[in-house]
Amino acid sequence: MTVDFRHYTTDQAAAVRETLLEVYAEVYADDIANDPFAGVERFAGGLDNWSARPGWSCVIGYDDDQPVGYAYGAVLPPNARWWGGLLTEVDEDLVRETGARTYALSELMVRIPWRKTGISRQLHDALLAERTEERATLLVRQSHPKVHALYESWGWKTIGDLRPRIEHAPLMHAMLLDLSQS
Ligand SMILES: CC(C)(COP(=O)(O)OP(=O)(O)OC[C@H]1O[C@@H](n2cnc3c(N)ncnc32)[C@H](O)[C@@H]1OP(=O)(O)O)[C@@H](O)C(=O)NCCC(=O)NCCS
Repeated sequence: MTVDFRHYTTDQAAAVRETLLEVYAEVYADDIANDPFAGVERFAGGLDNWSARPGWSCVIGYDDDQPVGYAYGAVLPPNARWWGGLLTEVDEDLVRETGARTYALSELMVRIPWRKTGISRQLHDALLAERTEERATLLVRQSHPKVHALYESWGWKTIGDLRPRIEHAPLMHAMLLDLSQS
């Protein structure tokens, strides 16, 4: 199996939109059926919002032209809403954004046949290798301890509890990864 990792930025967002939504609908099929926070329309709105942001980048893995999964994110702006739902008290410098400090990894997903193959890590690394920010952040659901543990095994540190200020939002772990060493 040879997976080809292709990089995209805002200019190409419209061209990959359909692929991103199709993979989402497949990977999250169970959640979509049971969880109002997971609907495809809601996800599409989030994707359009994210892909219009400055510094949006995306990597899609292709196995013989079949999309197998992807990762995307964007840079946090000053006074980012991202930190608005933080429930844990932290030093204010930790959540101070400049518009060039932190890359937020918004999505990472892999279709089932390509799981446990290392592709998820490769997507993650391919996306973050291109970044110039000093650190990355992500949110992982507290109800998914195995995914949380996976990120910890990749070097991410948990900084606290966060519930995004969005209707139906679940409780998350907020995590940070130092990008300055890589
Ligand atoms: C997260 C993901 C990219 C990791 O892929 P991977 O490195 O190949 O690792 P796995 O798929 O084996 O996942 C690691 C463990 O987390 C569990 N897990 C993964 N996604 C999960 C989810 N959405 N809910 C609950 N458990 C999940 C897996 O079952 C696995 O547990 P196991 O070792 O007992 O089998 C992939 O599992 C995925 O696409 N999951 C669905 C989307 C998702 O949850 N993305 C993360 C958002 S923060």
